[in-house]
Amino acid sequence: MTYSIKKAAAAIIASSALLLAACGGGEEEAGTGSGSEDKKVLNVGTEATFAPFEFMDKGEVSGFDVDLLNAAAEEAGYEVDIQNTGWDAMLAGLQSGQLDIGMSGITITEERKETYDFSAPYFESVTMIAYKEGAEIASADDLKGKKVGVQNGTTGQFAAESIIGQNDSSISKYETAALMFQALQSGDVEAVVTDIAVAVEYAKSNPDAGVETITDEQFVPEFYGIAFPKGSEYKAEFDEALNALYENGTYAEIYEKWFEEEPDMEALKQAAQ
Ligand code: ARG
Repeated sequence: MTYSIKKAAAAIIASSALLLAACGGGEEEAGTGSGSEDKKVLNVGTEATFAPFEFMDKGEVSGFDVDLLNAAAEEAGYEVDIQNTGWDAMLAGLQSGQLDIGMSGITITEERKETYDFSAPYFESVTMIAYKEGAEIASADDLKGKKVGVQNGTTGQFAAESIIGQNDSSISKYETAALMFQALQSGDVEAVVTDIAVAVEYAKSNPDAGVETITDEQFVPEFYGIAFPKGSEYKAEFDEALNALYENGTYAEIYEKWFEEEPDMEALKQAAQ
């Protein structure tokens, strides 16, 4: 509810920071400017229609993932160049090694671990169904026989398929989360299957859309990780950096900024075992 207020506040803070930076620019450069220039820039791909994790804000990728990755990179001594590559191109870029990092609310799964390396878990999620009021969906099984939208290649797709069946024509797959939500809005689909925080955020920021959300016990917790190409030299350094952010409170600060509650550090630690 207060998310957009927060966003506005963040924008004000950001612009005053810009002003300050502009005023003190000369000094800054003489002081710390040279050190940061030596930092290696890592190429990061994302699919930035996935608020509050990553979304475009005035031409810049913004969100929880962005803040967290920036903090981790800073801790590890790198700079990151985050590009809105899209989901499929991000995964392809990780496989070819053109990208150093994928940061996109990516769930760590056994299958993906065969192709990518993942950092320690940094966010707990679960599948959620969002539907238009009146769609008569009280549980996951009610998806059967309905037109369902998913983002292609995501755990939302896999969850929908586990209920409805693979390659079922009632499941429409969209390239981005935004296109999936548009299909819900236009009535092309009756429900979408996605990640809890994203469904909640969509319902909250589109109060007139008449969107309801439910989860279901058959959806099991999942955890997001930072993705790297297999064998990446950066994984260990980012694990260490994440751990530092967990210990020194920076992670909790970023979490509270975006989710307005305290993170469950125990759950993250347990998932890391
Ligand atoms: N967590 C889900 C998955 O890994 C969905 C991620 C989608 N991310 C995005 N930025 N669109 O499959």
